[in-house]
Amino acid sequence: MKRFGALKKRPEPWETDELIRLENLVKIYDMGALKVLGLKQINLTIRRGEFVAVMGQSGSGKSTLMNILGCLDRPTSGHYYLDGADTGEMTAGELSAVRNRKIGFVFQSFNLIPRTSALKNVELPMTYGRRPKKERRERAMELLARVGLETRWSHMPNELSGGQRQRVAIARALANEPPLILADEPTGNLDTAASEEIMELFSGLHDEGVTVVVVTHEEEIAAFTGRIIRFRDGEIISDETNPCPRRKGGGERCC
Ligand SMILES: Nc1ncnc2c1ncn2[C@@H]1O[C@H](COP(=O)(O)OP(=O)(O)OP(=O)(O)O)[C@@H](O)[C@H]1O
Ligand SMILES: [Mg+2]
Repeated sequence: MKRFGALKKRPEPWETDELIRLENLVKIYDMGALKVLGLKQINLTIRRGEFVAVMGQSGSGKSTLMNILGCLDRPTSGHYYLDGADTGEMTAGELSAVRNRKIGFVFQSFNLIPRTSALKNVELPMTYGRRPKKERRERAMELLARVGLETRWSHMPNELSGGQRQRVAIARALANEPPLILADEPTGNLDTAASEEIMELFSGLHDEGVTVVVVTHEEEIAAFTGRIIRFRDGEIISDETNPCPRRKGGGERCC
């Protein structure tokens, strides 16, 4: 009789608190004669509900990592498991469904659709789902209220401040209630006050159990998170927990 008990089985997503697992992940950009190493043999686990900062000098691989985590790009080798599923085995269509349902993106340059109201920008990701129009509109309004922009719903992106644009982008990222928010330098174009507002919003999402990964160059921004991962030349050089994450206005939230 065959015995399967000794076989090591990968735990099902509901049996583990891992949301992200990278195994020996390598990214090489193939520029013909020139091969650029973006990431070298990355091994990394991020648990559900973590609030993580990714830091490192320009060119150290932060955006390369975020693009792979966001299923916008595929690694050259190695594995990326998201919610227990190997993204390397997914078709382009499956990856785009994962992006739409499981991941909310926030970018440094906001990436809002110009000449389109804040409300419509937030509604957009929901149009790929099955929600009826009225429900989509109501949810978009709720999300704008959540980021403090209920009175600005009809404004076009160019009628909003940088901090307000980023808040619309966060509301849009939350449209489909993704378990994971990926933000690549979300405060890079903002002043200190607006940056703190954005980080406070992310802290609130973290309090609700959303997993948030934020790339930043600033220590004061990283200090809002509970874990700081530093990259150099495509490698992780440190991975530390921050026992006392900051809150807006300089307070701390010690566990
Ligand atoms: N599309 C691409 N084609 C070729 N090389 C790339 C590409 N994107 C990134 N690289 C290279 O990969 C390395 C990592 O780049 P990446 O954009 O991940 O850095 P980063 O840490 O996000 O930097 P920054 O802080 O400036 O945003 C760099 O050497 C970069 O030149
Ligand atoms: Mg970058």
